[in-house]
Order: sequence, then C-alpha cells, then structure tokens
Amino acid sequence: MKDPIGIGVIGTGYWGSKLVYEYQQAERNKRKLRLLKVCDASLPSLLSCKKKFSLSDTVLTQNADDVFNDPNVSAVHIATPNKTHYPLAIRALESGKDVLIEKPMTLHSREAFDLVSIAASHELVLHVGHIFRFNTALQMARQALEMQAVGKVYYARVQWTDHCPPFHDRDIVFDLGPHPIDILNLLLGSWPTQASGIGRAYRNSRSEDEVAYIIAEFQDDLIAHIELSWLHPGKRREVSIVGSEGSLVVDCLNQKVARFTDGNVAELPVQVNNTIESEIDAFVDAVLSRSTSVESGLIGAKTVEVLETITESMWDRPLPMAQQYKPDHMAALAALLEISRQGICTLCSTRKDLRTNDRVTENDKVEKYVGILMKSGFLNAISTKDGARYEVTEKGLSFLREYQEVANPDVDEQDQTPQASKRRAKLR
Ligand SMILES: NC(=O)c1ccc[n+]([C@@H]2O[C@H](COP(=O)([O-])OP(=O)(O)OC[C@H]3O[C@@H](n4cnc5c(N)ncnc54)[C@H](O)[C@@H]3O)[C@@H](O)[C@H]2O)c1
Repeated sequence: MKDPIGIGVIGTGYWGSKLVYEYQQAERNKRKLRLLKVCDASLPSLLSCKKKFSLSDTVLTQNADDVFNDPNVSAVHIATPNKTHYPLAIRALESGKDVLIEKPMTLHSREAFDLVSIAASHELVLHVGHIFRFNTALQMARQALEMQAVGKVYYARVQWTDHCPPFHDRDIVFDLGPHPIDILNLLLGSWPTQASGIGRAYRNSRSEDEVAYIIAEFQDDLIAHIELSWLHPGKRREVSIVGSEGSLVVDCLNQKVARFTDGNVAELPVQVNNTIESEIDAFVDAVLSRSTSVESGLIGAKTVEVLETITESMWDRPLPMAQQYKPDHMAALAALLEISRQGICTLCSTRKDLRTNDRVTENDKVEKYVGILMKSGFLNAISTKDGARYEVTEKGLSFLREYQEVANPDVDEQDQTPQASKRRAKLR
C-alpha cells in the first residue's frame, strides 16, 4: 500500500468546515491520507474549526504560504471565497501541489483555462468541486437517459432555489449557477450553444444578483430553463428532463429519480451516498494513482465560460425596453419622461395634445403613445369631464429610473462595483 498523502484544506467557513470533517473521517477510516494543514485567514473561523474537530495547533495556520511551503503536504483543497480561487490555485500548483478547487473554479474563464494548462504542464492533478457529479441520483438519471428512458430529449428544467439572508460578496449566477450548468452537461453530454439570462438583486446592493432566470440552447432544438433564487421559500434542487417517450424528475437533495411515462410514475433505484466523501475519495485516488486527466479541470473551465456568457448577456441589453419602443415609441418614452417630471398630465380628447400642468406638448400621435404606455402599465388613467388625466405608475417610474441609468451611465459613475464598471464600459 502507498504512503498516505498529506492534505491541506484552505478555508474553514461554511463549506471548508464540512470538508475538514470529511477529511478527518477519511483519515480515520481509510488511511489513504493525513490532514496535515488547516488554514483560514480569519482567526475566529480557524479557532471555531479547531474546537469543533479537536485539531492540534501544529495543523492550524492563518497563512496559506505555510500550506504551500510544507513539503509533506502534497494536495490542497481550496474552499475560500470565489474571487480568491485563482490566486490561491496558481500558488498551489506552482508549489507543486495537486489541487481540488471549489466551484466556481474561477471568476473568469481565461484564468480557469490557465489553471488547466499549468496543471497539465506540471503533471499535477487538478479537480474542480462539481459535487453533483458524485450524486448517485444524477448518475442513475444519466444511465437512464443513455438507455433512452425518455426517448428523444426535448427540454430540461432546473430549479435551484433556497431562502437565504442577503449575501454581499457573491452573485447567484456564479455561486449557484455552476451546479445546474454542470448537471446539464453531465446528463445531456453537451454544452449550450447559446445561453442568456436576466437577474435581479432585490435586497442587497444592485450589483449582486440574488434571483436569475437562465435560458440555454443546445444542439438538436434542445432547450433548458434554469431558475436560481435565494428568495424562494424552501430549498429545492430539482432537475426535470422531458422527452418524446416520458420524463425524468430528479430530486437531487433526497437523491430520488422518478420516471414518468404514459400517466405512470416509477421510482428508479438509487443507493443514497455521501457526495462529499465520494468527491474526496475520487481526488485522493487520482493523487495516489497520478491520474492527471484534464477532464475535471476542463469541465470546471467550460462551466465558467458558460456562466460568463450568461452574465455578459445580462449587461448586453443596454436599452432593453426602449428597443420595443423604436422608432415611434421613443417619443412615447419622451412623453413618459415629461409626464413624470410634471407629475400628472391631461389628455384632452378634443385637442389631441398632451398637457402637463400648464405646458402643452403638441403631438398628433399622443393618443397612441398613451395607449402604449398604459398597455405597459406605465400610466394610470383617471377619467375627468375634460377627457382623461394620466399619472405615471410605480412601474413607469422604476422603468424610467432604469432607462435613465442605462442611457446615462454618468448617473451611476459613483458605483465602483465590477458590474457597474462593465455596464459603463459597454455603453461607452
Ligand atoms: N460544492 C458545493 O456544493 C459548495 C457549497 C458551498 C460552498 N462552496 C464553495 O466553497 C467556497 C467557500 O464557501 P463558503 O460558503 O464556505 O464561504 P465562507 O465565507 O463561509 O468561508 C470562506 C472562508 O475562507 C476564508 N478565507 C478568505 N480568504 C482566504 C485566504 N486568502 N486564505 C485563507 N482563508 C481565506 C474566510 O476567512 C472564510 O472563513 C466558495 O467557493 C463556495 O462557492 C461549494
């Protein structure tokens, strides 16, 4: 039997502490590894982990360099915030360590592909924590699809929702999105040919989306819809695949797969497993057998590329609503702006002009604009004996705010978030 490998875990927050527990269990039960270093930049986080798992002081460090410089540590599991993945992984690989990096692999695809090539050139193992690859329900679903359980696949729906307090350091597409994208690749055996989305941050700063709807198109007319939310009641991790001969619905949390055909439903047999344990096992086995296949790294990098495309699509619609209003509708928009400035307007049925308080905007198409604006829910009409008065609704006001911000990037010049910079860059 080979010597056990030395493991270092970097990051002991929510996820990292689960990993420390699993590595400890694996050390005790399988004897293929030894947990030699546990690192977290935050002392309270490190001390809480020490207490929880009775770790010895010699194992603990606040400095990741202590992990990279330890000759007895041959493999490192990185579970720190997403933006730190790339710099830490580069240093780990350059120190000759095998690496398992949590999802999302990086925040930019060029960095992810860079890691793949560095690992390959140094003949190091590089795995990405796409844990649902180890979920036995999804593995069963993949087998069933390979055996034509639903015939020709038409479309897929993924619901990845939860109710969490607002996060200020992560956006939902990069944080939750890796799993659905990876799972679709696992089940369908392909990557989207196109992907786009729309996202919103309702409770935190405008830059970190916490709800997103994503549409992905695959070859052969296959489409997929992904719903991501940190606002939805109840935790749901569900994947449905609908085809010509039936459907599969996978409950990834409870590891159940149901097959629906001709009004019948049958549960497929699944042996429930501990996915973190399986992921760690696969990593340790790859390190021990020097299996340096680039597959896991490439899947991680490709996933980041898809997430990047989705995020870019969200900022690629500088005047989304205005596009529907071209060319005449731009005048309607001008009318809406005017009405909002004046607070109220009166449309006189006889004169067919638009009055905003005492000012009168001559316009022979004004009725049409008002119709469009009302249809969009931007104006409310109040009948009067002279004709009708119109007020801008809340929806109209919020549309105007968004329109003005996008049309005039200087408005959010103070916003230094990456997304605001991206938006400004696109508009210039
Ligand atoms: N595979 C999964 O299903 C899954 C689930 C949850 C989280 N994750 C991933 O795990 C990672 C961590 O997520 P989390 O929820 O545990 O976050 P967290 O904020 O709870 O923990 C992150 C920890 O990293 C520490 N840290 C930050 N920078 C560091 C550095 N340079 N060196 C050492 N320590 C540093 C922080 O002090 C913190 O304790 C994220 O990438 C996340 O996407 C994966």
